This record gives sequence, structure tokens and C-alpha cells, in this order.
Amino acid sequence: MSFSKDFVWGAATAAYQIEGAAYKGNKGLSVWDTACKINGFVKGGHTGDIACDHYYKYKEDVQLMKKIGLNAYRLSISWPRILPNGTGKINEEGLDFYDRLIDELLANGITPYVTLFHWDFPHELFLKGGWLNPDSSDWFAEYTKVVAERLSDRVSHFITQNEPQCYIGLGHGGGNHAPGLNLSNSDILLAGHNSLLAHGKSVQTLRQLSKVPCEIGYAPVGVTSFPNTDSLKDIEAARAHMFSISTPNQWGSSWWMDPVYLGKYPEDGLKVMEQWLPKIKAEDMKTICQPLDFLGVNIYQGKRVKMDENNCPEVVADKVGHEQTLNRWSLTPEALYWGPKFLYERYGKPILITENGMSNIDWVSLDGQVKDPQRIDFLHRYLKEFKRASRDGVSTKGYFAWSLMDNFEWAEGYNERFGLIHVDYETGIRTIKDSGHWYKTIIDSNGDLL
Ligand code: FCB
Repeated sequence: MSFSKDFVWGAATAAYQIEGAAYKGNKGLSVWDTACKINGFVKGGHTGDIACDHYYKYKEDVQLMKKIGLNAYRLSISWPRILPNGTGKINEEGLDFYDRLIDELLANGITPYVTLFHWDFPHELFLKGGWLNPDSSDWFAEYTKVVAERLSDRVSHFITQNEPQCYIGLGHGGGNHAPGLNLSNSDILLAGHNSLLAHGKSVQTLRQLSKVPCEIGYAPVGVTSFPNTDSLKDIEAARAHMFSISTPNQWGSSWWMDPVYLGKYPEDGLKVMEQWLPKIKAEDMKTICQPLDFLGVNIYQGKRVKMDENNCPEVVADKVGHEQTLNRWSLTPEALYWGPKFLYERYGKPILITENGMSNIDWVSLDGQVKDPQRIDFLHRYLKEFKRASRDGVSTKGYFAWSLMDNFEWAEGYNERFGLIHVDYETGIRTIKDSGHWYKTIIDSNGDLL
């Protein structure tokens, strides 16, 4: 048995990473535009000013998607491109761009999955306190309204936010993602709570205004643990490890998923964070926990966990010379079996892998091809595991490879290539990599060839 007949085969991108035209079309600034101007913030002083120039080359890119055989494409909308100040005045030119892109996708038989927020927060709203401002969730609802009014006659799949762990944790705590802040635990938790409220209000807005029935989900990082062996004890250890919060940090899957899917923060997390918690009102949890259609999750790697002699979960150290991708993420395909399985058990929603893929050293060979056997093997191994999860009863909705094309990898600049399509940033020339061609054969067989 393979995946269901309506399994979604896609690839994903994000606005700031590919669009370019950062100062074109009356777009407002985002915190990533401003962060890129800070000396040393991004490796090599790279910026998303031009990126893949997708704003101008979107038609060519849709043709490439078609060549790869995608039936879905996950894109994100740049909030400041359509609301240059974040709220208030609408930039028609920005909306027109997404209009054209959506039409082009539909005309080519590709279903758009629209992420509302993939990190490019409007700079003007950042100046008003950003996610710390108590109005921030209403700002996000207003932005959602603009998108719904214009696009929801044709877009019927939405993802509210991408990886709050990163834009809150790394952006407001770690300081290495925009807006580059190093806030106290209390402020980080407040920003996170406001962004969860924003998610809830955004879902309410979409349900209210959508012109056709739509499916809505969310795409946090799936911080995954998997068992060292198939013993019941190790499985129990991995499950407990995946969802437990024992130290103050912004990464736990349950911290970001329980409020959204279960209507409450996890008890252990509340204990650990107790002294820094913002005021959490009962109505807040109702707002945050809106009915959703699927659980979108980004999974790249997982941690191997076993039960130790004291019946406590213990992370197993990596073996010497363990397999890693170019950016040092571990090759752990089991994460795409156990992550979806544990998430499905806990939240009961169809699992949509909204991102999975690898950074590799890719270049155009003398014969004009881009040979990336490691990526083929990576995708093959992970997809096999996801298919196994499907066979074992997990409701698997679909899979988006990260990424459709090489792009601006945030603080790493253009140094990491994740694409199924190679991009020459000097000339703008695109070349489908071997992995893109391989992916097509898998899509065409609906996963039977895995
Ligand atoms: C994820 C991000 C995505 C991309 C990949 C490699 O954390 O959501 O934009 O950077 O990692």
C-alpha cells in the first residue's frame, strides 16, 4: 500500500527567501530587510534584495514546478508587500502580484498552499513593539482579512504561521534571526503568547471571510525524538522525550502545538516557565485553539532516545562520523516515521509535512546537469519512512520538499542550497537538479516507487 490517492505532492518556499524585489512594487520593509543591513548579521553580507528574482520570474518558476510534476506549491505572502505599514493602507501592486501568481499556479494544475507568515514581519509594526505589543494579534487578523478578501475565492489551503520556535526563539531570544533581539524570558514568552493569539484570530478571520470552504493548518518545527530500538520501553522514552519540557527553552513541540490543538499549554512547561509567564487569560486559550484541518509540521531531523536504567529517557550520543548534511543536520530518516506517528497519536489530525529536505554542495556539471545523489537518497529514505507511517495507520495528508529552489537561507545567506532546482544567483539561470527529476518519478507513481 502506498499513500492515499489524494496525497499532496509539493515543494515549499518563503517570500523573503525567493521573491527579491525587496524595494520594488511599493513594498514596505520587513524586519529581514532591515536585519540584512546590519553588519555581520548575515554571512557574507548577503541580502534578500534580489534573491531568486521570483517576483519577476514567477511564470518561469511555475513552469519548472509543472515539469517536476508538483500538484501543490507552498508559498508565503510577504505581509509588508501588501500592507507596507503592516496595517492600514493596502498596496494594490503587492496584492496584484499574488493574484497573478495564484492564477498562474491554478492554470497549471498546481494547488497553492498559502502561508500567511514566514518571518518577514513588517518593520513599521516592529517599531511599535512587534509581537510584544498587545495589539499584535489584531494586526495579524487585519492582514489575514486583506488576504482572505482578495485571494480566498481561489486559495482554499492556508497555513497561518511558520516555525514560531524560530521567529520567537531565535528572533527574540537567540538574536541570530530577525529582528535580532536578546530579550528576557518573560518578554520572549509574551511575544510567543501574542503570536499564538494571532494564529487563533487569523483562523477565525479565515473561517469568517473565506469565499470557498478552506482547510487551515499551522507549521511549527516538529522537534522530534525517535526510539533507539523498537522495544516498548524505548518507544515510551522517545514519546515522553518528544513532548516533555524540562528546561526553559523555546523549542518544545508541545509548547507550540498543545495550545493550538488541545487548548492548553503543557503542564510541565508551565511549571518550568512559571516565573516568566505572561498573564494567560482563559479566553486566550479559547481564541488560540480554533478547529484546524491538518497538522502541518517541518521535520528535518530527530534525536535518538532510549530508556535508561532509571526508567528515564536518555538521548543516545551520535556515533562517531555520523551522517550529516552540509549544514550539519543529522541524517535521521526515522524522524519521518516517529514524528508523524507521535503527533498523530497526540493531536489526531492528518499530518502534512510542510518542510523536509537537505542542504548540499550542488553545482552545474560540465554536461549541464546538477548531480545531487545525496539529496535523492535523503528524500528517498525520509519518504520511505513517511510511507511506513502511513501504512501503520497515521493519516498522512501530503509532503512538501524544502525547497523548490535554492534560495536565501536566512543568516546563512546563499551558502546553503536546499533546492530541487539549482539557481545561479549571478545570471538567474535555473536548472532542475537530478533530485527534481527523481522526485517527478516518485510523484508520478504516487510513492509506489519508494
Ligand atoms: C526552516 C525554515 C525554512 C528554511 C529551512 C531550511 O527552518 O522554515 O525557511 O530556512 O528551515
